[in-house]
Amino acid sequence: MLPYARPSITEAEIDEVEACLRSGWLATGPRTARFEEELASRLGTAHAVAASTGTAALHLAVLVAGIGPGDEVVTTPMTWVSTANVLLHAGAVPVFVDVEPDTLNLDTKRIEEALTPRTRALLPVHYAGLPCDEDALLEIARARRLKIVEDAAHALGASYKGRPIGGIGDVTMFSFHPAKNLTTGEGGALSTDDEALAARARRLRFHGIDQTPESRFGGRGPAAYDVVEAGFKYNMSDLQAAIGIHQLARLDERNRRRRELAMRYRELLRSVPHVEPLADPSYEHEHAWHMLVVRIEPAALAIERDDVIQELRSRGIGAGVHFVPLHLQTLYRDRTDPKRLPVATEAHRRILTLPLFPDMRDGDVDFVVEVLATVIRENERGRVAAEARGQRGEGAS
Ligand SMILES: Cc1ncc(COP(=O)(O)O)c(C=O)c1O
Repeated sequence: MLPYARPSITEAEIDEVEACLRSGWLATGPRTARFEEELASRLGTAHAVAASTGTAALHLAVLVAGIGPGDEVVTTPMTWVSTANVLLHAGAVPVFVDVEPDTLNLDTKRIEEALTPRTRALLPVHYAGLPCDEDALLEIARARRLKIVEDAAHALGASYKGRPIGGIGDVTMFSFHPAKNLTTGEGGALSTDDEALAARARRLRFHGIDQTPESRFGGRGPAAYDVVEAGFKYNMSDLQAAIGIHQLARLDERNRRRRELAMRYRELLRSVPHVEPLADPSYEHEHAWHMLVVRIEPAALAIERDDVIQELRSRGIGAGVHFVPLHLQTLYRDRTDPKRLPVATEAHRRILTLPLFPDMRDGDVDFVVEVLATVIRENERGRVAAEARGQRGEGAS
């Protein structure tokens, strides 16, 4: 089975994990510090704070941005559930705004109408690795004094008008889950230029203690710590960072390969009817190509999107759905009228994610497109109807 994603792991990661195990320092320590430094340097931000998962990093990001009980936060329904769940954990209210039909990123033209005096922040998601329209977001945020917390789980290595994603909003979160462009097994990080936000994130990720684990066992002595607020146990382990250090060193090379594969998909998909890749926005950007999402035309097919996925799976292709929009989930259903989100609601019937990961061969892309084309051809509505008529012995007059 060709999965939709697979991590690229080399001997460098394996050796570093072994060295970490042999060092005896497995929890947050020197490797996490190095990973954070190198990540901040790659992003061009003053700070990167590593966490146990992307969800943990996003929870921290939301809290340090000052989002709290009763605050409304404008976000997208086309995302993984973490994006909205962490808002609920902070006591805040996710307000879903519809997405653009061709990119599935937050439609910045629809944000104004969702703002109220209680709106505190914007929480965009760079869907599939494509940067959102940051200038439009910044303009709204400045005019309305809103914070921008970015969910860049998919967008490590992406940039907007030459600026790396990670240094544009007030605070940005990344995920290092195994499907992502950089993995640490599980893991995540936030980036920010704000010293105070970074310091609070470090404190909150480790119980609300006013010192890092390293300094507690290093310079100042084990008794010199104070719990100043109720934090979490969200710190990254050095075992995770050991993987991350070497993943980061190859990030650009791997993202280039993702791009090559994506361009091959786009080229080959031109000849497949009723299947359309997502489109590029007009502003200058660099896509991280985390996922390759296409849309089928349900009206042209005799089967549903889920059946297409089943057909692909039965022929060795692990296609997926990213995502079931949040306003259609039981937890969020009562909070939003689906009629207010027609694009996301419609996209849900149409999208599927095809395999894309750096170790894929060109031939794998050719295979996926060929199989997809076959599945589409076999299930075109007109053809299926004609065959049914033929079986009933009716003439094709
Ligand atoms: C858009 C988005 N946000 C947040 C997350 C959460 O990241 P993690 O799985 O590392 O907790 C993910 C990961 O799947 C994601 O796709």
